[in-house]
Amino acid sequence: MAIYALDEWEPRIHPDAYVHPDATVIGRVVIGANSTVWPQAVLRGDYGFIEVGERTSVQDGSIIHCTEQHATVIGSDCVLGHAVHVEGATVADHCLIGSGSVVLNGVVVEEGAVVGAGAVVAFGTRIPARAMALGVPARIREGYQVPEGAWQGNVDRYVANGLRYKTGLRRLDG
Ligand SMILES: CC(C)(COP(=O)(O)OP(=O)(O)OC[C@H]1O[C@@H](n2cnc3c(N)ncnc32)[C@H](O)[C@@H]1OP(=O)(O)O)[C@@H](O)C(=O)NCCC(=O)NCCS
Repeated sequence: MAIYALDEWEPRIHPDAYVHPDATVIGRVVIGANSTVWPQAVLRGDYGFIEVGERTSVQDGSIIHCTEQHATVIGSDCVLGHAVHVEGATVADHCLIGSGSVVLNGVVVEEGAVVGAGAVVAFGTRIPARAMALGVPARIREGYQVPEGAWQGNVDRYVANGLRYKTGLRRLDG
């Protein structure tokens, strides 16, 4: 696993979390129980602080960074799809951040909200609870509320997959 201390900062990864050996975690990063971090994901806590709650998946190729001014705080029971970029933003519990989306500094994604695949959420935007933000720049889908628990199945699948990888993954190329 590529897990690095930086100066006095060491990542704190819950023993029940799963971080794939090809993911990179650096510095001031906290990862909660049953969260999962998949191949080529990078969590770089150098300028500031990164926190990931419990049962949240940070999928392949995603990049989580932060600034001195803006920590990145991601809640519990979230799904961060493949190749997501979150930079200095706050994501509350039960959110889906769709694959290939970019969530920029000072953004707040409130509980149960969705950022659609490929969206770019501009600096300082607030996405209300259970809203859906789509497109570039991301706009709220009018008159739509994300059903409660919409992504719990995905959350549970990723928790189970983390357990599976903890025992079942074997490297075959030396
Ligand atoms: C945002 C999302 C959840 C919407 O799903 P949905 O509620 O089933 O929406 P629909 O497919 O019925 O589309 C509704 C409208 O939103 C538009 N839309 C849907 N997804 C969009 C997206 N990512 N970007 C822009 N517009 C989008 C559709 O074109 C449609 O527009 P219309 O009403 O003008 O015809 C889904 O499209 C998405 O992006 N999911 C991300 C999945 C993912 O990345 N998972 C992580 C890997 S596990």
